[in-house]
Amino acid sequence: MTTALVPELEQGLKPLRPLPLHCRLCGAFHQPAPVATCEECLGPLEPAYDPDRPLPNAATIASRPASLWRYREWLPFEGEPTLSLDSGFTPLVESPELARRLGVARLWLKNDAVCHPSLSFKDRVVATAINAAHALGLDTVGCASTGNLANAVAAQAARAGLPAWIFIPHDLELGKVVGTAVFGPKLVRVRGTYDDVNRLCAQAADRFGWGLVNINLRGYYGEGSKTVAFEIAEQLGWRTPTAVVAPMAGGSLVTKLGKGFGEFARAGLTSGPRPRLYGVQAAGCAPIVRLVESGGDQIQPVVPDTIARSIAIGNPADGRFAAEAIRTTGGWVAAVSDAEIVAGIRTLAETSGIFTETAGGATVAGAFALARAGRLGPDDEVVLCITGNGLKTVEALEGALPEAPLIAPRLRELEALHGRDF
Ligand SMILES: Cc1ncc(COP(=O)(O)O)c(C=O)c1O
Ligand SMILES: [Zn+2]
Repeated sequence: MTTALVPELEQGLKPLRPLPLHCRLCGAFHQPAPVATCEECLGPLEPAYDPDRPLPNAATIASRPASLWRYREWLPFEGEPTLSLDSGFTPLVESPELARRLGVARLWLKNDAVCHPSLSFKDRVVATAINAAHALGLDTVGCASTGNLANAVAAQAARAGLPAWIFIPHDLELGKVVGTAVFGPKLVRVRGTYDDVNRLCAQAADRFGWGLVNINLRGYYGEGSKTVAFEIAEQLGWRTPTAVVAPMAGGSLVTKLGKGFGEFARAGLTSGPRPRLYGVQAAGCAPIVRLVESGGDQIQPVVPDTIARSIAIGNPADGRFAAEAIRTTGGWVAAVSDAEIVAGIRTLAETSGIFTETAGGATVAGAFALARAGRLGPDDEVVLCITGNGLKTVEALEGALPEAPLIAPRLRELEALHGRDF
């Protein structure tokens, strides 16, 4: 190969190569490929990192640009990423008032409601998966989505100039649908639940040779979620909180939070005990919660019934790994009602100035349930993962907020209003 044919080499950059994969269950090895399941045992394939690779220290990481790529040694590539270079590194915001109401020592909000470019933590997983797709030579990307992933794939595919096929259940919120369609992908609504959509996509990926980020690129996709843990540790000054609370759908985020905190501890970037991981689901779709509560090791799939559509996955692909991460860190789970989710959205907004979607409302409501159950206490330093933006699910608040009074543009009418409670 001559360097003239490879622009990255001409510029002195190493072209991007996805890492090989190995099976999480039986260890079987696989060359880099759009394959997510082990041929030997059907276990999930994960990137195989070289344990002897050079790792940066805290100062080096801190000197790099403010995106998830500052942790590139823990992301599944060799060489330089070229797409979605600005996702991640969202604010970690302290909320003394929410800490007071929960009865914990300190509390921070990891605010992925403002993640770039599509306002949810799914921008992280798409940033890694779309680079994998590109490096593997796939010319079309896509996903099966409960909404946020659809937004993230559509946005990031648009700016990469890649065609995208995106599949969603037929009954998603308007904001999620419009916030996907605007980027011009092939958007397909499927009559059925997310689990039906997922099954169809598993067949479609093979049939059409697409890179579906959470299907056949899932091994590369999931690693993006580790950067939530890395950022929390760095933003707290290279230390860990005592507890982290996050919403669960497929169970990937919680699984990868556990992996991320473990990797930073092993690299000597943080010390002390790992954070206890707490996972929250809507009561109307809580298969991972039930698995942890029952102490079993087999997910019992459910048919979702909740306003929290983004986390309505009845048969979660990483459910048992999320349960394992929760158990091994000494954490626990909470299932919250739709009414509690709405109250969680309002409490977060009123105490902390952040408008989150239903998944974030579940996280806040779950934190209150865990505090009531004595699982979060006065010595705890807690981080709540606020994973998506409230403007995408305004339907959830319908009828929950007072109607604003309507007046004529006259001072007299304002004076009449002034003493009234509304
Ligand atoms: C806003 C939001 N939070 C959390 C989750 C849960 O992520 P995971 O599927 O990794 O458990 C999702 C999944 O779609 C989501 O959209
Ligand atoms: Zn295997």
